[in-house]
Amino acid sequence: MAHDTNVHWHEHSVSREEREQLNKHKGCVIWFTGLSACGKSTVANLVDHKLHKMGLHSFVLDGDNVRMGLNAGPGMLKEKHGEEFSKRFGLGFSAQDREENIRRIGAVAKLFCEAGLVTLTAFISPYRRDRDAVRATMRDGDFVEIFVDAPIEVCEARDPKGLYKKARAGEIKGFTGIDDPYEAPLKAELRLDAGAKDAEALADEVIAWLKKMGKIS
Ligand code: ADX
Repeated sequence: MAHDTNVHWHEHSVSREEREQLNKHKGCVIWFTGLSACGKSTVANLVDHKLHKMGLHSFVLDGDNVRMGLNAGPGMLKEKHGEEFSKRFGLGFSAQDREENIRRIGAVAKLFCEAGLVTLTAFISPYRRDRDAVRATMRDGDFVEIFVDAPIEVCEARDPKGLYKKARAGEIKGFTGIDDPYEAPLKAELRLDAGAKDAEALADEVIAWLKKMGKIS
């Protein structure tokens, strides 16, 4: 059996439906995926701000931020927790570590959704199977995949953190889009043309789509 024994799901005394009634909107997970510097975090934060102003309860889970806490890397964990712990639980950027990064975030996002929040996530999440695995844990319609599609040339020209430059110089190994794969979604609910349009226009597009699909009103 894959299940750990002696662990049982405890039903919440306040149901998701009751929380949604109080909030006056449904919970869902809006999953932004795309290359580093494609605009995921910027668009997610703009959408978050717009939703907030509309009176909805929302929150952004962001790759760089989550990698400073829940999914900290070995370097960050070592000082406080020691070598062995940091090697065991710290997450880097190998395919396996990215899989675990996305698995943990998927689990957190699902809980946020249960709490009735419009949960926005901004992770490269380069592997299709990892994104699909998160989708498979959720109720139909709860998981909305948004492909923030900007060509690598555009992302590399932006390079806000100087990471593409480092990757080209060989100072970072396994950088997505340079010497590590990015698998574009095949069945994203929405594709944003992030090479041509600015973040504000893209955020408006997301809001319009969420309204059209009845996710928000
Ligand atoms: S994911 O691939 O596991 O989904 P995540 O979104 O959490 O990645 O983190 C990506 C961020 O980590 C990038 O925006 C960048 O700032 C930083 N980063 C550091 N090393 C790498 C790398 N090898 N590949 C991609 N991003 C990296």
